[in-house]
Amino acid sequence: MRRMKKIITALLVFLLLFCLAACANMKNQQASQESAVDLRTGETKDRPNGIGSEKEKGDGNMNVGTFDFEKKSVLLNSGYEMPIMGLGTYSLSHDTCVNSVKSLLKNGGRLIDTAYMYGNEDAVGEGVRQAMKEFGIPREEIFVITKIYPSQFHDPEAAIDMALEKLDIGYIDMMLLHHPGTGDVKAYLAMEEYVRQGKIRSLGLSNWYVEELTAFLPQVNIVPALVQNEIHPYYQEQDVVPFIQKKGIVVQCWYPLGGRGHTAALLNDGTIAEIAKAHGVSAAQVILRWDLQRGIVVVPGSSNLRHIKENLDLFGFALTEAEMQSIRELDRNEKHDWY
Ligand SMILES: NC(=O)c1ccc[n+]([C@@H]2O[C@H](COP(=O)([O-])OP(=O)(O)OC[C@H]3O[C@@H](n4cnc5c(N)ncnc54)[C@H](OP(=O)(O)O)[C@@H]3O)[C@@H](O)[C@H]2O)c1
Repeated sequence: MRRMKKIITALLVFLLLFCLAACANMKNQQASQESAVDLRTGETKDRPNGIGSEKEKGDGNMNVGTFDFEKKSVLLNSGYEMPIMGLGTYSLSHDTCVNSVKSLLKNGGRLIDTAYMYGNEDAVGEGVRQAMKEFGIPREEIFVITKIYPSQFHDPEAAIDMALEKLDIGYIDMMLLHHPGTGDVKAYLAMEEYVRQGKIRSLGLSNWYVEELTAFLPQVNIVPALVQNEIHPYYQEQDVVPFIQKKGIVVQCWYPLGGRGHTAALLNDGTIAEIAKAHGVSAAQVILRWDLQRGIVVVPGSSNLRHIKENLDLFGFALTEAEMQSIRELDRNEKHDWY
């Protein structure tokens, strides 16, 4: 009888231990699904970097990379939301840049693109700070992208610290490597460290195409959230764009209107002008809307208040499939810059 009791007690202890182990295992699995991070493949997940508050991140109802035309934003693979249209600041000198940034923010735009190479990070920062104060815009609503240049890759920490200091807006929403170059992986890994510290929120690349991405991605830990490349109706990157998007990486275009010196050709293009007339909008709006419908984020450059307002007004009309197709047919592989 006593022996029987011993066996039953041993069995009960064994069962208890088994249940405890199973529970712990389930909990671990759940936790790893919640933080759900395959940073290498960029598969959809909620909170890859674990930086920042929940409120500032996606609301959980959006899919990574899919544009929300109601909210005018996209959820990045970093967990943060980014506006899908904004302002490019290339070639805007100090005061012009401050005024353009403020005009954008005053009129509802929230995305600004700058770079070390544009020499205006301090002006962008000043415009952002002034707008926050004068128009009562919370910092969390504003999304600033900057870039470090290959000439800075040998000492990326110094480059990032300098950008943080010049912008002086607390943290950098997104930092890109401006071009591929010697030391780019090392520079990216340094940016990853700043993500861990909460000083940069999302990472990306600029002027990276299929070959460059294929070689680069296996060498880093955090999948870029964005790739910014030259894209306009005469240079559409029809193969590169889906290649990037399929990886859960958002595409953003530079020179959306062809770039300074080339805008007249695009804005007066017969096909685009005809579509613009049909919708009662400008040629620039047609081109920018065409980008958005391809899932491409736009940062047109402008120092003209009327243009800045016009470039934000992209949601009162939609291009038909046939119109998208006729712009697609304008592609002539005509690059407007060397990189
Ligand atoms: N990653 C890279 O390597 C790279 C390279 C180049 C550029 N970028 C980024 O991409 C941004 C956009 O490129 P971008 O500024 O060089 O060229 P863009 O946006 O193609 O064209 C800017 C030109 O378009 C005019 N414009 C803007 N809105 C207009 C409108 N609604 N109607 C008529 N004209 C209009 C501007 O004149 P007004 O000033 O008179 O409006 C300016 O002359 C840059 O500012 C920069 O942030 C990145």
